[in-house]
Amino acid sequence: MTTPQLDVEQLRSDTPGCAHVTHFNNAGASLQPHQVIDSVIEFVRLESEIGGYEAQDQWSEQLDQVYDGAASFLNCNRDGLALTSSGSEAWWRAFTSVPLEPGDRVVTSRSEFVSAAAGLLAARERGVEVVDVASLPDGTLDLDAFAEAVDARTRLVCLTHVPMTQGVVNPVAEATTIAHGVDALVLVDGTQAVGQTPVDLTAIGCDLYAITGRKWLRAPRGTGMLFANPVVYDRLLPPLFVDGRSGSWTEDGYSPAETALRFEQGERSISAAAGLGAALQVANGLGIDAIADRVSELGMVVRSRLADVDGVTVHDGSAASVGIIGITVAGRPNADVVQRLRQAGINTAAPASATSLHDLHDRGLDGIVRIAPHYFNTVEEVDHLARALDSL
Ligand SMILES: Cc1ncc(COP(=O)(O)O)c(C=O)c1O
Repeated sequence: MTTPQLDVEQLRSDTPGCAHVTHFNNAGASLQPHQVIDSVIEFVRLESEIGGYEAQDQWSEQLDQVYDGAASFLNCNRDGLALTSSGSEAWWRAFTSVPLEPGDRVVTSRSEFVSAAAGLLAARERGVEVVDVASLPDGTLDLDAFAEAVDARTRLVCLTHVPMTQGVVNPVAEATTIAHGVDALVLVDGTQAVGQTPVDLTAIGCDLYAITGRKWLRAPRGTGMLFANPVVYDRLLPPLFVDGRSGSWTEDGYSPAETALRFEQGERSISAAAGLGAALQVANGLGIDAIADRVSELGMVVRSRLADVDGVTVHDGSAASVGIIGITVAGRPNADVVQRLRQAGINTAAPASATSLHDLHDRGLDGIVRIAPHYFNTVEEVDHLARALDSL
């Protein structure tokens, strides 16, 4: 396979983990490149030498650039970006700021992750009507059914950009246009999208977008971001969790910041944020188009190679195009497959069915073994995986 845009050998030597393991668990947490590792270690060392707040002051420029790096990667206004510690935290900060009353409608998909599903179930218990739209047989959101579900009572739309258990990209820009036609707010879970497929938040036009760092962006664990467009703040509730960073306290009261800092808190891992900044720099340097081409090409190699292995079934819908491939192996529990592959030095995952319940059940599955190649993986590694599965 030729991918002229990316120097895969260089990228592998920039990734210490490549020397130790065949890592196909990038939808869980990717291997960090040395730029990320160096940045975290350098910052932690500085903290230990001069003090936590003092280190933060000394790195204020680099830390400020995290927002610029993200804004340029996502084509959005940096004032709309807040740092969080996970995708779930970003989603919940956004969701809990949307005023929902009994009788309001929320339209969602059948591909939501457990964090969103739990939030929507809680809203349903409070009398909010939650309508979940099925996917087409090809795995993507059924836009016609979605358009029918979005009515004048719809206050909010919650959609996953790329589901956790199959490699399709949902039409979130088209869905946003439909939702905005009735003035509904749009919250997109971009956790599995950002870093593996182009995400242009200006083109998508959604109001709120949740991101995690450790997966396709290859940032440290415990990092995430929320994009919350400042133009909708007058339609949101004040954030639930605040401190001195998220707003200002005067004798007149507490006012949330006018930017997305209102969704951020002062006390968090600054070294992890430094690592996120380095990860964004790496991703911006490579360019999302080259990354996406490589991931999608490798995803197709995985699908076709593994479909030829006796006993292996590839479960992706026909629209599958990105780096998440769900398989099962006849007669073997998914967890057992993951364990045996790990013994052979190959990382995969078997997400519990309770993390993506509707999507899996709609497809008649209790779970899958998830193979998630990133741009630093190789065709030789896919062959190694195919051989390991063949010999189970
Ligand atoms: C589609 C999807 N949404 C949300 C999340 C939650 O992200 P985090 O684990 O960073 O909270 C995940 C995590 O696997 C996911 O796959």
